[in-house]
Parts: sequence; C-alpha cells; structure tokens
Amino acid sequence: MTNATFTRRSAIALSALVLAAGANAQGVDKIKVGLMLPFSGTYTALGVAIENGFKLYVDEQGGKLAGREIEFIKVDDESDPAKATENVNKLIRRDKVDVIVGTVHSGVAMAMARAAKESNTLLIVPNAGSDAVTGPMCGQNIFRSSFSNWQSSYPMGTVAARQDGKKTAMTITWKYAAGEEMTNAFKEGFEKEGGKVVKQLTLPFPNVEFQALLTEIASAKPDAVFAFFAGGGAVKFVKDYAAAGLNKTIPLYGSGFLTDGTLDAQGEAAQGMFTTLHYADNLELPKDKSFRTAYAKAFKLQPDVYAVQGYDAAQILRTGLDAVKGDVSKKAEFAAAVEKAKFDSPRGAFTMSKSHNPVQDIYLRKVDGKENKMVGIAAKALPDPARGCKL
Ligand code: PHB
Repeated sequence: MTNATFTRRSAIALSALVLAAGANAQGVDKIKVGLMLPFSGTYTALGVAIENGFKLYVDEQGGKLAGREIEFIKVDDESDPAKATENVNKLIRRDKVDVIVGTVHSGVAMAMARAAKESNTLLIVPNAGSDAVTGPMCGQNIFRSSFSNWQSSYPMGTVAARQDGKKTAMTITWKYAAGEEMTNAFKEGFEKEGGKVVKQLTLPFPNVEFQALLTEIASAKPDAVFAFFAGGGAVKFVKDYAAAGLNKTIPLYGSGFLTDGTLDAQGEAAQGMFTTLHYADNLELPKDKSFRTAYAKAFKLQPDVYAVQGYDAAQILRTGLDAVKGDVSKKAEFAAAVEKAKFDSPRGAFTMSKSHNPVQDIYLRKVDGKENKMVGIAAKALPDPARGCKL
C-alpha cells in the first residue's frame, strides 16, 4: 500500500468517524431497547401483550422517544430462572442495550435486577411483582410499571374477611416467588381482619396437575380459596375448579391475574368470581377508552392488564429519556424525572414511589361475561411497603 492510498483510506475512515460523532451529538442514534419476555410457555400471551402495549405507545409518539428512533432486540426468556442471567447478559454485554424491558416471571426478574444493578443498566419491569425488586434489590436505575406481589393480593384478603365475612381460607399456587408472596399477602390481609388461613397448597411451576390438591380442598371445606395462577395455567385451574363442582360450594378468589386475558378460554367456569387488581375492563376513563380502541384496532385483540403495563413501561421510559435528552448515562436525572411524574395510565393516573413502584388504586372486580368489571375500590392509592429498600 502506498502512502497516498493509506492517507486516502485514513481520511475516509476519519470522516466516517466524525460523521458518526456528529450524528450522536445531534441525538439521532437509535435507543436500543432489549425486550426480555416469555415468548414460549405458559406465560406466552402475557409477553406478547406487554410487547404490543409497549410498541403501541412508541407508535403513538411517531416511533420515537426523546427524538430518537427505537431499535428493539428481543430475547425469549422462557420464564426460566436457570437461563435468566445468561439471557440478560446477552442484552447487556453482547447487544449493549440502553435499557432492558422485562419480564413477566418474578424469579427471572430477580436475576435481571441483579445484572442491571451490577452493570448500572436501566431496567423497567413491565409485570413481575417480585417484592424484592422494589424491596432489598431496589435501585436508582430500576423501575416497575406494574405492581408488587404484595400489592396485588393483600387487599383481596381484607375484602374476603371484612366484606364477605369469610372465616377460614386455603391458598393454592405455584411454588415460586410470585405465588408465595401473593398467597402470603392474602393471608396477611385476611388474618388482619380476623380470618384464618388453614393451609397453603403449592405445586411446582408451571405444572397444571391440580386434581390431588382439588380433592384436598373438597375434603377440608374452607369458607374460601385464594389462588394465584396466570396465563395458560390460570385457564386450566379455573376450569378444573369448576369441573370439580367446587365453585358451587367454596368461592374462589384470586389476584386478578387468575381471570385477566383468560376469560375467552375460561367461559362459564369463571363467571361471578371476585378478584383484586390495578386494572379492570370497564373503567370508562378517557385514557382507557382511547387506549382500548387503539389497541383493538392495532392488534385485533382486546387489551388486558399486561398490555397496560407494557404501554406504561414505554411512558416511564419516555419521561426519563425526555429529562436526560436521550443520554441514558444520567441515571440520577432520569430517576428524578420519573419520581416527580404523574402517569396518565389506562388504569387511572399513578405516581411512582421512592422505590420506583406504582402507587395505585386496587380495584375489586367481578367476572361478568367476557369482562372483569370493576365493582369497587379495594384499596385507594396503595403503595408497596417496599420492605428492605434503601434508596
Ligand atoms: C410473577 O411471576 O411475578 C407474575 C407472573 C404472572 C402474573 C403475575 C405475576 O400474571
């Protein structure tokens, strides 16, 4: 190679570099969003709804947040905690994403929070309720657009005892963080109001062989049963409970995941069930109406709580990015903007607690046809207790 060729090549390379730097300074680089969600297994529909909701919000902003186009990189986490650290590190180390959005499963989310903390990467959790994520593992760079497991289920316990006068209850769930934290929160609320949880039944995630446990419930005859299942598992549990005839004698309560996004498949078996959740199908709020119409039009599907949480994860990201003009290294400014904001969500407006979990109304809902109808407010502006969070 002659000196002249070398110089010409260097000049070309140099001008490419200068161009790239200029583009960066003008803020035209894309923001890389790593979507780590279940795209296979019992929680598949939940992952899809979250992705749809997130993309709907971005589309409403003209495909950009803080003036930057969004590039999505997707990982199927299979709701498998054993693969979680490797999966999240693909996004952090290999793809060098600016922000991670995920996931559904609490066990996977805890591994993600650990990796996000170690690498100081922004993380927005659009579902998983793991109490630890906004408790002992809370962080300036970690946010949740959904709920904590405690928050979703404590109010159901108080309503079952105080309002419905139930004295004894059994709980049933998958044996992992979400199931354990929700059933324990139900117990806390139920016993605070004078009830007694007589037995807590579990089976491994994501098993759906419920028969032996249903037989145990039938012979123990508690006044009520509280369950956490979601997605495909929730469909099967509610149908099996009704097929065993138990819905005629022992009312089945749940956190609202038991009947959200599942009513088409559950049909008759779910009718009349009471659950608590931060969303319902008949809220009649202007924001909810426009959201539901836009979602149905875009995806030919009715939205559910997961779609709302995906949509709001994108709103949280936008609020933070606007404040730092797309510079995700400014974590303190990003967090300060999110902490001050009021989010106009389809669920009703919410704010973020210091531990970065929504402070929100928890609705009492009753299944009526294909809808979870709001019939009351089980807890107004309920914060997560954020036990163990030091920020
Ligand atoms: C969770 O693992 O935290 C979880 C999963 C599905 C839900 C709710 C919570 O519907």
